[in-house]
Amino acid sequence: MAAFEDIKKVGVIGAGTMGRGIVMNFVNAGYPVTWLDVNGEMLEKGKVEIAAVYKRSVAQERFDDAEAQARLNRISTTQEYADLADLDLVVEAVYENMDLKKKIFTELDKAVKPSAILATNTSYLDIDEIASATQRPTQVLGLHFFSPAHIMKLLEVVRGKATAQDVMDACLAVGKKIGKEAVLAGNCHGFIGNRMLEKYSRQSREVVLEGATPWEVDQALQGFGMAMGPYRMYDVVGVDLGWRSRQLAGVGRGEPIVWLDNKLCEMERFGQKSGHGFYKYEAGSRQAIHDPETDMMAREVAEEAGYTARDVSSDEIVTRCILALVNEGARILDEGYAESAEDIDRVYRFGYGFPAERGGPMAYADSLGLDKVLAEIRALEAERGEFWTPAAGLVKLAEAGGRFTKA
Ligand SMILES: NC(=O)c1ccc[n+]([C@@H]2O[C@H](COP(=O)([O-])OP(=O)(O)OC[C@H]3O[C@@H](n4cnc5c(N)ncnc54)[C@H](O)[C@@H]3O)[C@@H](O)[C@H]2O)c1
Repeated sequence: MAAFEDIKKVGVIGAGTMGRGIVMNFVNAGYPVTWLDVNGEMLEKGKVEIAAVYKRSVAQERFDDAEAQARLNRISTTQEYADLADLDLVVEAVYENMDLKKKIFTELDKAVKPSAILATNTSYLDIDEIASATQRPTQVLGLHFFSPAHIMKLLEVVRGKATAQDVMDACLAVGKKIGKEAVLAGNCHGFIGNRMLEKYSRQSREVVLEGATPWEVDQALQGFGMAMGPYRMYDVVGVDLGWRSRQLAGVGRGEPIVWLDNKLCEMERFGQKSGHGFYKYEAGSRQAIHDPETDMMAREVAEEAGYTARDVSSDEIVTRCILALVNEGARILDEGYAESAEDIDRVYRFGYGFPAERGGPMAYADSLGLDKVLAEIRALEAERGEFWTPAAGLVKLAEAGGRFTKA
């Protein structure tokens, strides 16, 4: 078995949002990067954007012009797989589509030397299925960066069922070299962070159907200490991403929790990038401005779906959104997709803006007392059904007077 500690040359596939940030990570840390996209224009645009980021850094006196140029010089672009032959690690960041990713991994497998590691930046897709498109599944894993990838600290290092330990170790070491908080995750839908986010997100939407406004939800969660409320986050990510993927998958569009998103997208209100989403933005500004029209639309949608508005307190918003994270985190631990509660907390602090002073969702649950957390979750289950069935591990710990994190 080859040793993988010696990663010297890196490749990145895809010159979109994530590819650009991932390239910066590596060149900033001194790695030469070969950057491939099928679309030459995207590569050109990517280089221009990276140069602009470095120009701002020079203006802020983070480094000088010569350093900016040295970083840019470490990037070479190509549209030919043959140029990837001697790379040690390739990170793929193309559209979130299984068939496309499998096609690319088959090509990479043929083009890149047999000892190289092949990684995917997929947000949700099955690493094992991607690995099955290659003859080297032991050298395939997920390297999941967070947007903006050159700024967000978190890196989920996702182990497939065949991924070799020395491949994991080599990638954890690379993660350190590029300054990331690397967290080991198992191969489940959404891994650690996005799997939990789905539950949080569902609660953030249900409370709006029941009577809160998106703005109130953000105020409540920002009051709790989240760097950004969920609706501001949807605007930053792009409201259309989920909308388009639901359309592609042909499922999920009919659920009332996404009707408001559907309406916004039909009006081309995609979020920050289109100047209007759940919030309004002035030209050239990222400052989210409360939009009462969104609140009105939220009410109309809820009424169409048969809800009668009630007062939803900020305490209830926080309890439901944060305990949804806690319960799913506990399930992830039960199923062995995270190694520790501390790892889950690192994912949330470094990837999702969870307030550092609260430790993370699992440490926060400990601070409340797991007996109280379990009682709240059981009350929610009695009122609202199986979404709130408590994780087995939570029940066990709460009944034993235990905690998720080390005291
Ligand atoms: N955007 C995010 O916030 C985010 C965060 C984490 C992970 N991800 C994941 O990262 C991946 C990329 O997302 P993105 O938002 O950067 O996408 P994007 O749409 O911005 O960019 C995709 C790029 O892939 C290129 N591409 C398409 N087909 C190709 C091919 N056959 N060969 C080479 N390049 C090809 C396109 O030209 C485009 O430049 C997805 O798997 C996504 O789930 C995205």
